[in-house]
Amino acid sequence: MNSSPNHIIPREVIDDIRDGNDIVEVISELGIPLKPAGKDYKALCPFHSEKTPSFTVSTEKQIFNCFGCNTGGNVISFLQKHEGKSFREAIEWLAERIGASLPGRDEKSVQRSRKRLELQDLNRFAMAYFHKQLLTPTVGGRALAYLKNRGIKDKVIQLFQLGYTKPERRDLVKAATQTGFSIQQLVDVGLIKNEERGPTDRFRGRVIFPILDERGIAVGFGGRALSNELLPKYLNSPTTPLYDKSKILYNLHNARLAIQKTGTSILVEGYLDAIMLYQAGVENVVASLGTSLNESHASLLRRFATEVIIVYDGDSAGFQATLRGLHQLLKEGLRVRIVLLPPGEDPDLFVRNRGVDAFKALLNTAINLIEFQIQRAVQQDALRQVGVKAQAVKEISLTLSNVKSQVELTEYIKYTARELDIDKTVLWSELRHLGIKAARPVHPSRNSVSPDKKKNLIPRESIEWQLIEALIQCPDLISEAKEHLDHRDFTHPELTKVAQMLWEASRFENGIDIQYLIDTSVDEKIRGIISNATLRKTVPPNLKARVDGCLKKLKQFLLWDLERTVRSAVLTQGHNSIDMLAELVELSNRRRQFAP
Ligand code: UTP
Ligand code: MN
Repeated sequence: MNSSPNHIIPREVIDDIRDGNDIVEVISELGIPLKPAGKDYKALCPFHSEKTPSFTVSTEKQIFNCFGCNTGGNVISFLQKHEGKSFREAIEWLAERIGASLPGRDEKSVQRSRKRLELQDLNRFAMAYFHKQLLTPTVGGRALAYLKNRGIKDKVIQLFQLGYTKPERRDLVKAATQTGFSIQQLVDVGLIKNEERGPTDRFRGRVIFPILDERGIAVGFGGRALSNELLPKYLNSPTTPLYDKSKILYNLHNARLAIQKTGTSILVEGYLDAIMLYQAGVENVVASLGTSLNESHASLLRRFATEVIIVYDGDSAGFQATLRGLHQLLKEGLRVRIVLLPPGEDPDLFVRNRGVDAFKALLNTAINLIEFQIQRAVQQDALRQVGVKAQAVKEISLTLSNVKSQVELTEYIKYTARELDIDKTVLWSELRHLGIKAARPVHPSRNSVSPDKKKNLIPRESIEWQLIEALIQCPDLISEAKEHLDHRDFTHPELTKVAQMLWEASRFENGIDIQYLIDTSVDEKIRGIISNATLRKTVPPNLKARVDGCLKKLKQFLLWDLERTVRSAVLTQGHNSIDMLAELVELSNRRRQFAP
């Protein structure tokens, strides 16, 4: 298998790294809410939309498979598919996860990941240090009073590891260097600045909000001034090797379980909005921290949510920026709803003034993005002017062009046409310009092998599938199959490839290594076939009998092929020789031997 995608990393290394990462743990950490189901785990498939879980992960086999869309493989394939990583990137990620080193990895990237780990340590240190300052009355008394005054409870201060920084110029510089961190590390992680007068703390005299990524690792900090006169009100970490504000949603780490449970994520603007809502029991809340929403945010959310409710102050600049970013959410297949707060209010104020029940009631009034756009357009009286209406149609069409579900799209088009009082064909034609076609019934691709979609296989392919499935479940039978059948005797392209892999693997090894087969399949359809066959629950009681049955039937097909070839040779070339006829008789006799 010279064409394997991983010839640079030795097989043993891949084996070690893969085996060191439990597939159930990794998939859970990436946001899929796996639930135990017998020996296995199940969840709604992250790769296609479904109502009942057919996504299955096996601890024992270390393999996942969705019996609905037939995506499958091992922990490496999962990272490739779910995170869009290359094979090598997936291995590197898994290596870093368990602190293993990769030979042949270039020195630079080894250093980069070591540096990242050190910077994470530093952030963890700083977070604990700031938190301790906040809780030291002589230092953080005023800051703590400020937070309490804003209604934040001790428990939440602790959970969010809120902190305080002294006004001194070099407080953290001293504490961190005494602990063994270097000035360079402090600069790299954005905690200090190199000024003319020497290294200076970036955050001084501020309440500190540690910013954690979705795994709970401190990647940056936000610092709020203790009074509204001090500017800027908030100071945030600059972009560092750990922190990129466009890739972070505040509170996602705390919120992810609740988001998975409800399917919905509530998106607010600020640190305190998220904290106050979380404290009030609205746990599925994340904050965009004043930046506009982008593609990375969208794909981050998509890992946990199916729907996003945006709760913004409609007058704020942040909202305008966010509106522009919402297409990204739709593109990711997320449903988007919007709630506008009364002008000048934010979720923090709203909950404090009117209580959490009022907030929940408000959430129930959220309308979807398309309705929202339409209503905004309709509210502009100017809609009666042709130009304004044309503009509205254009904007709404652009939004519609990002709607993934054809069913929803058709519904929205009806709704838009009604509300804007235009003909549906106007919208369709606008959408055609944007490359969107009207819904057509979807024909499943005949080539996707799945036992649940067996109808898509012609009978011969379906027997080939049964044989491959049985052989994967009982590899001891491969040698027997090999005696009777060449892998080239298969007709289905992917099954032929799997057969070839099995035939080859059985040549070298005792039994076969499913994980290795998956790692060396470049085609994801092939990984799907292998994982599917591995995890199928309907193991026939007697695999040997099944294999024999399949072999017989396939033999018959092959002899049919042969007979047909000879017969057509006889017909076209007029070879009416006795030899030919004898061969035909012999062939059909042999074929009958294999008849059931
Ligand atoms: P807001 O100005 O609405 O602040 O900014 P807020 O969250 O309501 O804060 P409080 O309630 O006055 O304490 C919303 C978010 O925008 C970012 C912060 O993340 C803030 O939470 N922001 C705001 C900054 O980064 N810098 C600023 O100077 C202001
Ligand atoms: Mn506020």
